[in-house]
Amino acid sequence: MIGNDVIDLALAQKESNWKRKGFLNKIFTAKEQDLILKSENPEITVWNLWSRKEAAYKIYNRQTKIRAFIPIQLECFDLNVQDGIVFGKVICYDKTYFTQTRITSEYVETVAVINSADFDKVKYLKSTENIIKIDGIPSYQDSENNVMQPASISHHGRFKRIVIADKYSFRNQLYH
Ligand SMILES: CC(C)(COP(=O)(O)OP(=O)(O)OC[C@H]1O[C@@H](n2cnc3c(N)ncnc32)[C@H](O)[C@@H]1OP(=O)(O)O)[C@@H](O)C(=O)NCCC(=O)NCCS
Repeated sequence: MIGNDVIDLALAQKESNWKRKGFLNKIFTAKEQDLILKSENPEITVWNLWSRKEAAYKIYNRQTKIRAFIPIQLECFDLNVQDGIVFGKVICYDKTYFTQTRITSEYVETVAVINSADFDKVKYLKSTENIIKIDGIPSYQDSENNVMQPASISHHGRFKRIVIADKYSFRNQLYH
């Protein structure tokens, strides 16, 4: 399973004032707020953590079919930067999701998976062709392998991302 989230930083800056009263308390745990306020760039850290929560939530939503606004229950842990990518975990109730976040001057983008090995299988799709939504949750109709694979879509401002964790990617690499 997979979840993703992209944030257009120019639009976020225009639309959302993260400094407004009550915002941090409503969205972030005490530990996360501490991380934000001690970070070099608090605004980027806000969107870094936010995008992780949204990406993880999309998996939680597919697993449970529950739709809810639960930012405090989606807690970010173990942020760790390697080669410009921030790795981490999001824990939601009894479930753990692994996250990879890319931060540029234009956007913040997270992909979440259940097994960290699935990061190697992540594929970006160019269009929503072959995407089917059931109860608002997207899947990719993989006609080559005759299966449906979980997909995740996110758009914000100038950016749109469609991703799958292709369970056939290893086989594809071997045979193509
Ligand atoms: C539903 C929600 C995740 C959408 O996120 P968003 O940032 O507003 O918008 P995005 O563009 O990233 O996501 C919308 C896309 O998600 C896709 N999507 C919805 N549920 C999904 C799921 N379970 N898995 C993968 N993709 C999903 C939809 O296809 C939609 O794309 P479409 O409009 O082209 O069909 C968000 O509005 C929400 O309800 N969040 C609640 C969870 C929470 O507590 N978040 C805390 C924030 S810190």
